[in-house]
Amino acid sequence: MLYRKREDGKAVAVGGRCPHRYFPLGESQRVGDSIQCGYHGITFGADGVCTRVPSQQTVPGVYKIPSYSLVERGLWAFIWMGDPDKADESLIPDMKAIGYGLDGYHYAPVSTMYVEGRYQLLNDNLLDLTHLGFLHSSSIGNDANASTPEEREVDGQHVRSRRFLKDAEIPPLLAQAARWEGKIDRTADMDFYAPGFHAGLDETFIAESSRARKARCLAGIPLAGRSRSLPAIQGRSLPCGAMPQSVISTASAFALRQTCQ
Ligand code: FES
Ligand SMILES: [Fe+2]
Repeated sequence: MLYRKREDGKAVAVGGRCPHRYFPLGESQRVGDSIQCGYHGITFGADGVCTRVPSQQTVPGVYKIPSYSLVERGLWAFIWMGDPDKADESLIPDMKAIGYGLDGYHYAPVSTMYVEGRYQLLNDNLLDLTHLGFLHSSSIGNDANASTPEEREVDGQHVRSRRFLKDAEIPPLLAQAARWEGKIDRTADMDFYAPGFHAGLDETFIAESSRARKARCLAGIPLAGRSRSLPAIQGRSLPCGAMPQSVISTASAFALRQTCQ
């Protein structure tokens, strides 16, 4: 369960089930910076420690809910739900390296998708952009996305997959955005930071002019979560195998810079 403290505005990630009778705390009540369980009123502070049991004078020390490490960077909250001793902020992607906060770009959250499937399948999807020419042929891709050889760099937990398209047909959505029907040069890039963060860069250069359109799409993929829906990406369902207990959600930020001279 996630919420922001009123006292100092800091975001908090705590377990979502009351240890008494497992009532969902996300459907309970905030009292100041604490959560009061909606069933029998047992109350937990932002650190997860029980502070009140309405039906008795004493507070049992065993009553607590998990409290998780949380670091806010850019538009994201990075939460570590594993062994607390292994929480390592240095593994969070560097915001400058992923292109967040660059001059001339406007950054805004654009979507959150819930996908019933193993999170690795979405990593596969974002790292294999040959699918643009087929799954997204009516919008942002065409055959050149598949036929142009990939240049790949692997550096620790970072993988860069990049294609430099030369003298390619312009895909429909880009043609509309750029008001252009001729050939283009294009860089299609995806940077992957294991285990679940992607930073995409798309640069389109219009031949015979100095016009360029650059876009960055940044997506964080939680490794666990819950969802009630199976949404679509670009109007089609993700080809994910059904894994009922494992759900993916992405929170994306999209930044666009367009230069027309
Ligand atoms: S289930 Fe939460 S107080 Fe009883
Ligand atoms: Fe796609």
